[in-house]
Parts: sequence; structure tokens; C-alpha cells
Amino acid sequence: MSNTAKKTLLSRHAIIERNVTLLLVLSLLVVTVGGLVEVAPLFWLENTIEHVKGMRPYTPLELAGRDIYVREGCYLCHSQMIRPFRDEVERYGHYSLAAESMFDHPFQWGSKRTGPDLARVGARYSNEWHVQHLKDPRSVVPESVMPTYAFLADKELDINAIASHLVANRDVGVPYSDEMIVNAATDMRTQTDPTADSAAMVKRYPKAVAADFDGDPNHLTEMDALVAYLQMLGTLVDYSAYNPTQDDR
Ligand code: HEC
Repeated sequence: MSNTAKKTLLSRHAIIERNVTLLLVLSLLVVTVGGLVEVAPLFWLENTIEHVKGMRPYTPLELAGRDIYVREGCYLCHSQMIRPFRDEVERYGHYSLAAESMFDHPFQWGSKRTGPDLARVGARYSNEWHVQHLKDPRSVVPESVMPTYAFLADKELDINAIASHLVANRDVGVPYSDEMIVNAATDMRTQTDPTADSAAMVKRYPKAVAADFDGDPNHLTEMDALVAYLQMLGTLVDYSAYNPTQDDR
């Protein structure tokens, strides 16, 4: 732009700057257009979270385990969000997707990693390892600073509250069906009993694994629930079939 052109443009702008009303009207116009461009698309997008194949609500047992995870403050030392950086993806696996937290109330992304990220810890260790590690972390990782949670193996799991817990989750948008709510307590027991017929439970919750998680077949404990939760983390989405450009609704 030549110098004279610059000068005429500036002198035109001076007209706006000297006329308060004009400045106000034009500022409002700019803000309105800017605001519309940012806000309007949200009304046409069907959902701001893309759906991914494999995601399902937590089984009653996993949900109870998740509550214990929150109650014990595991999120104070562990994140559940793998960022899309090479070092993280190489260590923990595929970066986390928004859809993977879509049924989480509240989400457990965390902001502190005293211990490793847990978003994909499921199926990485045996149930026995988890129980041993939770009871006495230093017996399997000598330099660990993680607290012991041995008491979880002695605490009976509260079965009676679980159905209303599913209802509460449904109220905030988790698609628990009436059938899931009616069967909540039964599904919870079935998932900790590898000898029970788990077909109906697995049909309701695909990929749910039934096992005697805490190694104590006579008691349904908080340890059962927490280990069931840890063992499913990051196991629902099949990343070999995942296509980021496709919405699997
Ligand atoms: C004071 C911080 C702290 C708290 C609280 C804590 N952890 Fe840890 N956690 C660690 C550290 C450090 C490690 C790494 C050393 C080890 O494996 O023990 C770890 C490791 C783990 C691992 C193994 C992860 C891997 O990939 O090897 C699991 C699973 C785990 N913690 C679960 C939990 C659960 C569940 C809770 C809550 C009941 C919890 N942690 C609470 C610090 C913590």
C-alpha cells in the first residue's frame, strides 16, 4: 500500500474515532457478527462430542468402583486423559477422545500425575496384581509412594444403593434403560461370580468381564468394584478400527 493510500485510510478512520455514536454503532456491529460466527454453528451441530463405537455406560459394579475411586481421591495423583503428544501416546496408548468421558459424572481427567495416567490401564495387569498393589503398593513396586488401600478388601460393597445410583446417572443423561436399572443389583453380583450365567449382563453391557476380582469368592467387597473399574478403563473402544473422520452414532 502506498503512503498516500495509507493516509486517506487513516483519515477515514479518524471520522469514526471522532464520532462517538458512529463508533458505538460500528463496534456493536463487529461484536454481533463475531458473536454469531462463534455461537451459531452450535445450533446446527447435532452434538459437540463425536460418537465412537464401543462406548457404553458403566456396569453397576464398575460404577460402584468408580465411586470408590472418586471417594478415595485417586484423581489427586492419577490423570485419566492421554494428551495427543508422541511421548504420551507411546507410553499410554491412543490419545483420549472426548467420547470416552461422555458417561462420566464427574469426569476424572485430573491435573496431577504423581502416578501414571490410568485412562488405558485396563487389562494391562492381572486382577491379582491390582489387589496386591492396592493392598501394599511397595510389595510390587518398591519405590512407590502410593498409599495402601488394604481396607477395601474388608469392606462389604453396598448393593442396595446401586439402582438409585443408575437412576441419578440417567437423570444427567447417561442412557441407562429401565431393564438395566431393575437388574442393577443382580448384574453387580453376576459380574463378581465367574461361575454365574453372565450372558444377559454382557448383552446389556458389551465387553463386560465377569471375575472374582478380589480373590475372595465369599464376599462382595469394595476391592471387587474398584478392580473391576480399573480393569475396564480404556478397553471399550477398538482403536484398530477407529476412524477419526467418522461419527459412529
Ligand atoms: C499419593 C499419590 C497416589 C494416590 C493417592 C494414588 N496413587 Fe496410584 N500410583 C501412585 C504412584 C506414584 C504410582 C506408580 C508406582 C506404583 O505402581 O505403585 C501409582 C500406580 C498406580 C497404578 C499402576 C499404574 C501403572 O500403569 O503401572 C494403579 C492401577 C493405581 N496407581 C491405582 C490407584 C488407585 C485406584 C488409587 C485410589 C484408590 C490410587 N492409585 C491412589 C500414586 C498414587
